[in-house]
Amino acid sequence: MCGIFAYLNYHVPKTRRDILEILIKGLRRLEYRGYDSAGVGIDGGNNKEWESNAKSIQLIKQRGKVKVLDEEVNKQQDLDLDIEFDVHLGIAHTRWATHGEPSPVNSHPHRSDKNNEFIVIHNGIITNYKDLKKFLESKGYEFESETDTESIAKLVKYMYDNRENDDISFATLVERVTQQLEGAFALVFKSVHYPGEAVGTRRGSPLLMGVRSDHKLSADHIPVLYRCCMTDQDTCLICLCLCFYYVAYSAVIEHTNRVIFLEDDDVAAVSEGRLSIHRIKRTVGDYPARAIQTLQMELQQIMKGNYSSFMQKEIFEQPESVVNTMRGRVNFDNNTVTLGGLKDHIKEIQRCRRLILIACGTSFHAGVATRQVLEELTELPVMVELASDFLDRNTPVFRDDVCFFISQSGETADTLMALRYCKERGALTVGITNTVGSSISRETDCGVHINAGPEVGVASTKAYTSQFVALVMFALLMCDDRISMQPRRREVIQGLRVLPDLIKDVLNLDDEIKVLAEELYQQKSVLIMGRGYHYATCLEGALKIKEITYMHSEGILAGELKHGPLALVDKLMPVIMIIMRDHTYIKCQNALQQVVARQGRPIVICDKDDYETAKNSSRTIRVPHCVDCLQGILSVIPLQLLSFHLAVLRGYDVSRINKLHFSISSL
Ligand code: F6R
Repeated sequence: MCGIFAYLNYHVPKTRRDILEILIKGLRRLEYRGYDSAGVGIDGGNNKEWESNAKSIQLIKQRGKVKVLDEEVNKQQDLDLDIEFDVHLGIAHTRWATHGEPSPVNSHPHRSDKNNEFIVIHNGIITNYKDLKKFLESKGYEFESETDTESIAKLVKYMYDNRENDDISFATLVERVTQQLEGAFALVFKSVHYPGEAVGTRRGSPLLMGVRSDHKLSADHIPVLYRCCMTDQDTCLICLCLCFYYVAYSAVIEHTNRVIFLEDDDVAAVSEGRLSIHRIKRTVGDYPARAIQTLQMELQQIMKGNYSSFMQKEIFEQPESVVNTMRGRVNFDNNTVTLGGLKDHIKEIQRCRRLILIACGTSFHAGVATRQVLEELTELPVMVELASDFLDRNTPVFRDDVCFFISQSGETADTLMALRYCKERGALTVGITNTVGSSISRETDCGVHINAGPEVGVASTKAYTSQFVALVMFALLMCDDRISMQPRRREVIQGLRVLPDLIKDVLNLDDEIKVLAEELYQQKSVLIMGRGYHYATCLEGALKIKEITYMHSEGILAGELKHGPLALVDKLMPVIMIIMRDHTYIKCQNALQQVVARQGRPIVICDKDDYETAKNSSRTIRVPHCVDCLQGILSVIPLQLLSFHLAVLRGYDVSRINKLHFSISSL
């Protein structure tokens, strides 16, 4: 999993130093996505004419963080940093290794040959790269790296060398390459054969283009050119600066807030300063144009402020992020909920046969956490599915099912594929996403934006609690005309009213949790047990610990203890138990007794005034009490904080830990 960034200036003179600075800065903003190696590809040569320099490409690649690359860039003796380029495309990449160890040769950009005729940067995974490599090797191509990406660089040269006419465009060439690729990718290409031209494309991995022009743009939509009508005159708009980047807004926002979200299989090409978007064929539901959207976000919104990492910042943002999720939607005075994004479909949803919640990782846990309240308030069967498993099983889906796709990014490949699978079977699809304009939000029939604000941190935290709140709001909406449900609805809505303040109280436990982390950080493993509303908290807490501390952790349903997991408990094994005063309280007390009987020394997350539980615990973390179905929001925050402190104490740079899961889920 990686970050990719490209910058093209068109008749806006920039020195080589300026260009390198822009590329390095872009990579710094994306470094949290990958930091084991980094590289840039720029025009070589020190001639006066930019065209002659563009006839050679210089690659600078280093193992390590972007800082190391920056140092290497400054050591380049043979490059004149003051030389000015009228037109120039630079591409840059920061990597988290998936195929091949971190090393300069495995770093991107990858090249077609020793002369660097074509270079490419890639985020994603090419699943058929071994077949491509075998084919290309049989044609005499020599591979130098262990990566899947190198096969793309070689393939584009193969296509070029075997072109049937000399004036084949760069976009067409790339289009042909992508037809041979399987897997997920966001790619940007640069070539000595196409000086000053850039081509980017995506499938399964998001890619966004920033557009900046000092002239008034002549259009706010870029027409899509289907191959049959592609001519040079069809292009539409002068772009003076283009930044391609992957997923994070952070790299592009300082250049421009005008962006185009590319769709799967779009090939975006900039030639002679004109941007055109091409597709081989029109697919059902495809829009004939891509809108230039204005990001409503300021740079400081995505900066860390006084926090040491985005993860820490986002944990502490939760009192506000849940308010933003509810803003304008929950009326606490008359106990009503309005979800504009579902308005046109709510009647149909109320008539459905079952609800299926589909997601990956933390977003899946948000489904587990709210399943019970959804079942209670909708009185419908609710299935919660891991997207990959749902697809593997070819799960039966019917026209009268309503399928929810929960995703912070709105781009997770398995969730997106599951969405397409359900659509083909005629189910109504609902997106619960945090990213406006994302594939999931665009492709679902309707949905709810959780409005948690950008989640830059590696580990999902505020998105989880906002997804939780969004699903609860949906459950409330579903029963708003059911008289028998009104007392419960009022209770839950009033619970939502006090939630932000209660979250603040939990965040005040931070110092206490840090002390607990100091006791635990050298352990190999932590078990987390609970049941009912808190089973999801166990799964989510364990996922956070695994993901950012590299410690083993397992979330265990307390009702399953006696069926095996109890064997793990002894006086040395750290055990965290969640015991809240709800309908599972007595059963949780039994579990506590079982742990104590095996000489376990449980650390218990419990209600503030639960002195009874405290007597049997080695330590308690006391959280405020709220309505049972929202209590999971308050029980998960101590585990978010714990994982953060454990990671810091174990020496990990939390701000840089990469979303490895993203590449796995893209497979
Ligand atoms: C864990 C985490 C992941 C994501 C998962 C789905 O901290 O962030 O488990 O929740 O990859 O991602 P989205 O929600 O973007 O679909």
